Amino acid sequence: MNKNAFRQLSYGVYIVSTWDKGRATGCTANSAMQITSDPATIAVSINHDNYTNQCIQDTGRFAISILGENSNPYIIGAFGFKSGRDNDKFGEVESVVKSFMPVIADACAYIVCEVIDKMETSTHTVFLGRVLDADTLKQDTPMTYAYYHNVVKGTSPKNAPTYIAE
Ligand SMILES: Cc1cc2nc3c(=O)[nH]c(=O)nc-3n(C[C@H](O)[C@H](O)[C@H](O)COP(=O)(O)O)c2cc1C
Repeated sequence: MNKNAFRQLSYGVYIVSTWDKGRATGCTANSAMQITSDPATIAVSINHDNYTNQCIQDTGRFAISILGENSNPYIIGAFGFKSGRDNDKFGEVESVVKSFMPVIADACAYIVCEVIDKMETSTHTVFLGRVLDADTLKQDTPMTYAYYHNVVKGTSPKNAPTYIAE
């Protein structure tokens, strides 16, 4: 199997957020996709070891902040290379609460979901979310995963589903 073929799949760059007993937390994710239009449903794939996974299970809701090419790339690193277990990630960035969920202020759009189902794989939980609310926040071009790698020159850690060992 040539895993480089997977690099031809297209993604965006998102912050998947939720609550940790009243404190906002979350992680960077590329694995978000729209599953249906009506009723609107979205899926995200979150590693079992990510603290965000446990917090989504406890809260039953998650938000997706869609980052743009002009969003501060610091956010991707702050949410993608540290754990909310021992870091207050939202303490470092400006956020807004939308439909009772924490959202990154420096994003171009957000989607708030209620978990309606989940599927377990050996490493990741795929959460299926019914969309409760969604809106645009600012005018920007959504950042693609390719842009993150080729222009921002960012990398992905082992817990990202797209990780390929070099
Ligand atoms: C660009 C990028 C994409 C990522 N995509 C995912 C993803 O789709 N699913 C996932 O579980 N982790 C993904 N990660 C890894 C998590 O963001 C990372 O493991 C994070 O530290 C988990 O934080 P937590 O323990 O607070 O949940 C990604 C990281 C980066 C930088």
